[in-house]
Amino acid sequence: MPGIVVVGAQWGDEGKGKATDQLGDRVDYTVRYSGGNNAGHTIVVAGEKYALHLLPSGILSPKSTPVIGNGVVIDLEVLFGEIDGLEARGVDTSRLLVSANAHIITRYHKELDKVTERFLGKRKIGTTGRGIGPAYSDKINRLGIRVQDLFDDSILCQKVEAALEQKNHLLLKVYNRRAIDPAEVSAELLSHAERLRPMVTDVTRVLNDALDSDLVVLFEGAQAHHLDVDHGTYPYVTSSNPIAAGACIGAGVGPTRINRTIGIMKAYTTRVGEGPFPTELLNADGDKLRTDGAEFGTTTGRNRRCGWFDALVVEAAVTANAFTDLFLTKLDILSGWERIPVCIAYDVNGERTDRLPMTQTDFHHAVPVYEYLDGWAEDISGCRNFAELPANTQAYVRRLEELVRCRISGIGVGPSREQVVMLHDLL
Ligand code: GDP
Ligand code: IMO
Ligand code: MG
Repeated sequence: MPGIVVVGAQWGDEGKGKATDQLGDRVDYTVRYSGGNNAGHTIVVAGEKYALHLLPSGILSPKSTPVIGNGVVIDLEVLFGEIDGLEARGVDTSRLLVSANAHIITRYHKELDKVTERFLGKRKIGTTGRGIGPAYSDKINRLGIRVQDLFDDSILCQKVEAALEQKNHLLLKVYNRRAIDPAEVSAELLSHAERLRPMVTDVTRVLNDALDSDLVVLFEGAQAHHLDVDHGTYPYVTSSNPIAAGACIGAGVGPTRINRTIGIMKAYTTRVGEGPFPTELLNADGDKLRTDGAEFGTTTGRNRRCGWFDALVVEAAVTANAFTDLFLTKLDILSGWERIPVCIAYDVNGERTDRLPMTQTDFHHAVPVYEYLDGWAEDISGCRNFAELPANTQAYVRRLEELVRCRISGIGVGPSREQVVMLHDLL
């Protein structure tokens, strides 16, 4: 029965990997349903740090079967690089299943991602440069290459040729780059086919059978609500649907299969890449959050933009994902502030609103209205019960619950697996 989705409630890097890992041994399948290796999920187990980009975090739990769903875009070199890296560290990856319908990121997608960003100049999105947008564009344009195409040489070559026909004109004539040889691309892709073959399966069938058998299936979101192409801060978004509903599309399970949706939110806010961010701190406070929280990208190493907690941002995610629970991360990073601002409303051109503005223009003009909560000096990284947290820390948690209108069921007080305070079971 239990289908659980974990979704980022802000702009990514909330600690989804760690939250997913919490359920670890109680989960039978852990499924990635959207995005690709634009994600970077860091998990710390017994002092060992793992950074996963394409594989679901469940790969670190010996009991759980890791799955890559049809909604994911796969860079095969990254996939095998990640598998080899984990195997070298003694992690068993042999149970991995990959959907035959997942799309492939090719060399030309990566090339196009880079040149289009360069061409956009100051209007760039700040993508991860991993070919994500161009691969999803091809999927929607019905020019994509899927995993199953690797098992039919002649179809694969035809599809790569068709995909490159227009793109080579673009690369040559618009972007002033060299054309890409379709035969080379096909050969590159085919070189991975035999290694991939045993992992490929009808993931939709496997997961629905598992749910029929009352097994626990956890859908691990990548990116976040506000990076969703439909619900995020468009056009400063990724090209897929990370929201909870994306799990249905990206894995092939009906909405009635999902009975728990867990939002992951950081105790403050970060964002990588361009786009609006009302509570961003472009001062020493922002630098302090970045240093204290080690807010540097897992994927690209870029500095993460940092700011205070924005209740409007999370409340919008709570609403559109119907979160049943929230997991609050990095609360330990806020130790040491005398008072902690929390954004409870925006001033948009002189008018106060406590809901996210409807238009991009208003969002860009939003000025945060802060409530100031009392801080705490104590190091809370050793706390394991809510009652052990300082009174002001407890009050911070309770106030966030009120503002975003959802209960907080777990709290991260450090990067390690055991550094959590649980208030309600997540299963
Ligand atoms: P994800 O993309 O949502 O999985 O998040 P990232 O892994 O990109 O970024 C979260 C970072 O915070 C990682 O380095 C985690 O190890 C770390 N982290 C997660 N939860 C906590 C927490 O509660 N406290 C602290 N100090 N670090 C955390
Ligand atoms: P996780 O799963 C934070 C951002 C990029 C850029 C925009 C589009 O670790 O939370 P893309 O390469 O997807 O076309 O880039 O989305 N972005 C992320 N930011 N965390 C992520 O993943 C992200 N994945 C994409 O920085 O602004
Ligand atoms: Mg990340």
